[in-house]
Amino acid sequence: MAAYEYETHEYDCIVIGAGGSGLRATLGMAEQGLRTACITKVFPTRSHTVAAQGGIAASLGNMGPDHWQWHMYDTVKGSDWLGDTDAMEYLAREAPKAVYELEHYGVPFSRTEEGNIYQRPFGGHTTEFGEGPPVQRTCAAADRTGHAILHTLYGQSLKNNAEFYIEYFALDLIMSENGTCQGVVAWCLEDGSLHVFNAKMTVLATGGYGRAYFSATSAHTCTGDGGGMAARAGLPLQDMEFVQFHPTGIYGAGCLITEGARGEGGYLTNSEGERFMERYAPTYKDLASRDVVSRCMTMEIREGRGVGKDGDHIHLNLSHLPPETLALRLPGISESARIFAGVDLTKEPIPVLPTVHYNMGGVPTNYWGEVLNPSEDDPDRVAPGLMAVGEAGCASVHGANRLGSNSLIDLVVFGRAAGIRAAEVVDPKSANPTLNQASVDAAIDRFDRLRHADGGTPTAELRLEMQKAMQEDAAVFRTDKTLAEGVEKMNAIAGKLGDLKVSDRSMIWNSDLMETLELENLMPNALATIVSAEARKESRGAHAHEDHPDRDDETWRKHTLAWGTDKIDLTYRPVHLDPLTDEQEGGIDLGKIAPKARVY
Ligand code: FUM
Repeated sequence: MAAYEYETHEYDCIVIGAGGSGLRATLGMAEQGLRTACITKVFPTRSHTVAAQGGIAASLGNMGPDHWQWHMYDTVKGSDWLGDTDAMEYLAREAPKAVYELEHYGVPFSRTEEGNIYQRPFGGHTTEFGEGPPVQRTCAAADRTGHAILHTLYGQSLKNNAEFYIEYFALDLIMSENGTCQGVVAWCLEDGSLHVFNAKMTVLATGGYGRAYFSATSAHTCTGDGGGMAARAGLPLQDMEFVQFHPTGIYGAGCLITEGARGEGGYLTNSEGERFMERYAPTYKDLASRDVVSRCMTMEIREGRGVGKDGDHIHLNLSHLPPETLALRLPGISESARIFAGVDLTKEPIPVLPTVHYNMGGVPTNYWGEVLNPSEDDPDRVAPGLMAVGEAGCASVHGANRLGSNSLIDLVVFGRAAGIRAAEVVDPKSANPTLNQASVDAAIDRFDRLRHADGGTPTAELRLEMQKAMQEDAAVFRTDKTLAEGVEKMNAIAGKLGDLKVSDRSMIWNSDLMETLELENLMPNALATIVSAEARKESRGAHAHEDHPDRDDETWRKHTLAWGTDKIDLTYRPVHLDPLTDEQEGGIDLGKIAPKARVY
């Protein structure tokens, strides 16, 4: 065993990650008197939630009629009938409460003339169970909603005495012999020390793995660290084939231009100046759901109607909107368009392209955030001591495709749920578990092996190979051939992890080693994605399979579970079809959410 000293810390709860879900869980646990620490590799207010622009969905009804059941219906349809019904009901029902709590914590939402929270339209959000006009459901703080939420939650967590370990990189989960999570081993980037966190409850709030792809709206820190740790602990990753492409990433740079731009009246055009979404989605047009809009844009480009000298992107038009609206509602993207596309959006269209944005898949959980370790007999078996929330988790409310602004609400609803559940299952008076030393030693050994890796492949080189393969073969449109080639390529790429070369052996702010640890986390996420996609012989949500163009509920309305790190095995578990409450108790009429063709 490698010889390193480490410091041991004891808490009731530890949360790994300080984005929206991590901070909301930290705050909820600390508020209830649980000794809680948040361990984060970046300063909390630099977490990727800071980049969330357009807003957070909740049926407040501030701008017109709305109902939680309409929100639930839209989420079910958006998920292409792969989401879990109980979790989707929980999300839609709890959303207004969670948003009002944010307001009371101090989030500076934009306001209507009457002083209510301002709400804007977003893709796929409708009225009357998809029969009525688009609804204004997305609560916004201009186009910097994630920024506002993150700062507020960090302040509130500090006020409630949560402790923060900032710029600490979580290496591996500590698992007991019977599969209970006992905490995590972490590396302090600033002084090079190692730390063992012993906790009764560990929460993975580590975000998505967008950086498995070449072009993504995700921050460079989105490296699937939670998925990597879970896979190494022998837990599965669920529904990884469903990767969302946001329709409007800035062409070339990949930065996000919020869907709020279309919510405020922006529209897409092709090289003929045609508003082509009217052809594909006659009712909701540019406000159809994201997977639909991304596919339509890709078809326009493929059929020779892309814009630019290479005809390889699309225009987003906003110059017809009053400059005051742009300045008031969309100040952030006005700046991004100028800096990253050299465009004054009051005068010119923004060049955009569908860009990897969100991972619907993740560590499977129930709607309390408890991680599942499904067995043949019990597909809902809980892995004790471990939760996952936010993009790292898969509750599953987004199924095969997430609606815009359902991410921020997922973060706070399920972060909050994790806090509520922790107060029920964690006894602050009981002693912390005796740690499984073999698990601690294994984490430190892996760290030491990577620190001294002396093969022939630099980390950056292998990462680029992975990103290019994923971009090419796990794309907006997929075929049997591209997916089979993708699996072959990715198996070969993952096989080179044993040949990595790390040049810097130091312990303090060793970014070479940190990027290597991140690559070891990205790889199982990427492999699970391509292997799960290759196996799913249908089209559903973000998984658009050209050789199997139809959704096949009979065979494929089930969750994929991908097990393993270097070799992926697949099993499946059933989708939850039962709601939390039946109709007599005020729940939704199940006939309203029965599967049907998904048209916008
Ligand atoms: O378009 C956006 O503002 C992104 C929102 C989201 O992904 O939910």
